[in-house]
Amino acid sequence: MQSILVTGGAGFIGSHTCLLLLKQGYEVFIFDSFINSSEKSTEKILLTLQAENLELREKLHLIKGDLKDAKDIEKVFQLCLKLKRMILAVIHFAGLKSVHESTLEPLSYWENNVSGTINLLKVMKKYNCKNIVFSSSATVYRTTSKNLLNENDICKPINPYGNNKLTIENILGDLFKKDPLEWRIACLRYFNPVGANELGYLGEDPKVKTNNIFPQITKVALGRMNRIKIFGSDWPTPDGTGIRDYIHVMDVAEGHISTLNYLLQKQPQILTLNLGTGIGTSVREFIKIFEKVNNVEIPFCVEERRPGDNAFVVADNSLAKLILNWAPKRNIEDICRDGWNWQLKNPNGY
Ligand code: NAD
Ligand code: UD1
Repeated sequence: MQSILVTGGAGFIGSHTCLLLLKQGYEVFIFDSFINSSEKSTEKILLTLQAENLELREKLHLIKGDLKDAKDIEKVFQLCLKLKRMILAVIHFAGLKSVHESTLEPLSYWENNVSGTINLLKVMKKYNCKNIVFSSSATVYRTTSKNLLNENDICKPINPYGNNKLTIENILGDLFKKDPLEWRIACLRYFNPVGANELGYLGEDPKVKTNNIFPQITKVALGRMNRIKIFGSDWPTPDGTGIRDYIHVMDVAEGHISTLNYLLQKQPQILTLNLGTGIGTSVREFIKIFEKVNNVEIPFCVEERRPGDNAFVVADNSLAKLILNWAPKRNIEDICRDGWNWQLKNPNGY
């Protein structure tokens, strides 16, 4: 049996990816501190599988631990040895992800995200596990133009969170340079993952307050907020509101399975790939589509631009499509329907 360690596997993207890993026949070891997630998410993974008549409970292991403590990470590798398993690869989602919080607490972010990753890599090396898929972000790019962003574009993050992501990419690059015949590494730069698994058990239930657009829309739809604030209607875009590349979380999860399978079949290498749809949607369009698909009204008002925002952030996803033979299958309507379905079934989260 092939075992995969998933750091941050209880979180939003991690839990959706674990679901697919299990369906693919992998054994999954989730390592999570639950700083931004609920222990219940593993139950939701199992419920989703049961709804598809799959009983895979014994293949899913949950280990509470913190990347900041290398001993915690080592415990997982030890547990695997005890079970006579070897960790074949790590999918490394664990990290703090609030841009705003990172500007308020840069040291915590560097410690958790960068030192935590160094701890993980040291333990991986010790146990001779040299296959890793890392969650990077489109936030690493210097986004100044109206062009689709490709992997060769200049990277110049403007906040501690983005600096953490780029630094980790660089660390992975240095590791590969040192032992190019040993490491298989993929850095996946996600654009805007949103939505939820279509069955409505798994979704996004963060502990840290976020001000991302989709949770704001669903909050208004649930009646918990009167209206959504649109951050600027004077951007150089057709309707004046910011354009982003919203990608369904299940497409992101599928991207991880394709990446993992690709890495494991190929020679050692380092890959950097965008995971996006290549399609831009403005804030105004997003709200309209949500209203239409779900038959709800989303009142809004226009506010000042949010500091650090850009007009247009959309992926050139051609490299990921070519290399991984992967493509997003779901559109913005699916995102609105599935995200709202989860929110309705879980109005108070997990
Ligand atoms: P999430 O917060 O839902 O999941 C991250 C998980 O990591 C959480 O379960 C959290 O408890 C855990 N974690 C954090 N620090 C930890 C530590 N020190 N030790 C152990 N566990 C720890 O976030 P997500 O949306 O699922 O994002 C997953 C990854 O993808 C993150 O690294 C994030 O930066 C990156 N990313 C996310 C987005 C997005 O829009 N969601 C976009 C680009 C990149
Ligand atoms: C933000 C982060 C990015 C991170 C991503 C996922 C910033 C500047 N960027 O991306 O680094 O990778 O989240 O965590 O924080 N909007 C509104 N009203 C709202 C909320 C958002 O109009 O209440 C607009 C924004 O101005 C933007 C779009 O909606 O145009 C998307 O915003 P958001 O969901 O926060 O994602 P990003 O800013 O793209």
